[in-house]
Amino acid sequence: MTTQTPTPTHQAVQEYYGNVAREAGSCCEPSNAASTCCGTSTNPEKIQNELYPAELLAGLPAEVANFTAGSGDPISLARLQPGETVLDLGSGGGLDCFLAARQVGPSGHVIGVDMTPEMLARARSNAERVSFQNVEFREGYLEALPVEDNSIDVIISNCVINLSPDKPQVFREMMRVLKPGGRIAVSDMVTNHPLSQEAGKGKDWCGCTAGALTDKTYNKDLSEAGFIAIRIEPNFEAVMKAVDSGHVRSPKEITKQQILTDIRDWDKIDRTMIVPHKITAIKPGLKEKVGNGFN
Ligand SMILES: C[S@@+](CC[C@H](N)C(=O)[O-])C[C@H]1O[C@@H](n2cnc3c(N)ncnc32)[C@H](O)[C@@H]1O
Repeated sequence: MTTQTPTPTHQAVQEYYGNVAREAGSCCEPSNAASTCCGTSTNPEKIQNELYPAELLAGLPAEVANFTAGSGDPISLARLQPGETVLDLGSGGGLDCFLAARQVGPSGHVIGVDMTPEMLARARSNAERVSFQNVEFREGYLEALPVEDNSIDVIISNCVINLSPDKPQVFREMMRVLKPGGRIAVSDMVTNHPLSQEAGKGKDWCGCTAGALTDKTYNKDLSEAGFIAIRIEPNFEAVMKAVDSGHVRSPKEITKQQILTDIRDWDKIDRTMIVPHKITAIKPGLKEKVGNGFN
């Protein structure tokens, strides 16, 4: 296992999400780019999180179910099986870990990794509320995961990889910790035009826009790390929900229909768009482990 010295970008992101954890505020800040991203909601009375099917969230305390800074639903994407070991990169308040824990059951195990102490504290206190025995949260960096080699069946992540200042290193770490034949199911922000990859400290980076990769770079970097069967697709459902809930930042004259049409053809659109994507891939390995519908 490697170690990671925190960069200024890590420190800025940590401070930002420390505040989100403390204040339960929104992680989205206005930006000039046409983009959709995450939103937190903490209505203590009612489950209002629209990123996931209602049946996935049923039975969780509303405060836990509503605390998301994600951009999609990696749980449905992951097709988890009982007994699997799952790693959540940038686990935040822990929601995806709890949903995964229900699906892998008592014979499975879920590890959430996050670098922000306030988020870890929130996740651990949420874990006490939902009292699943098969979830643990570890402090650490995506670029130097505190996880054994070849130990994970499935990596999930929700709106986090865009925040890393060194994404190729994150992909190498994902490859290292996955078992042969293991898979990834990621929700992340992706853009149509290259953004300045100068790691940022500003709120556009911390708010999950400025650090987004293009789909082509995402594919290339995953492939160079050794992943196969890579799929990177726009999450149209999440985009529509984000438009409806006012989480889309785009010029007012552009309609929802136009946004969806533009995403389908986005290489040809001059305007920069940054929208949630579904990303799946496999670590090459044992043939019998690859029958998971991702290839
Ligand atoms: C946008 S929030 C998403 C949280 C959670 N996945 C969710 O869906 O609610 C990003 C989270 O990733 C963590 N994070 C960002 N960059 C990280 C890195 N390089 N290493 C570890 N954690 C990181 C932050 O501390 C924060 O909790």
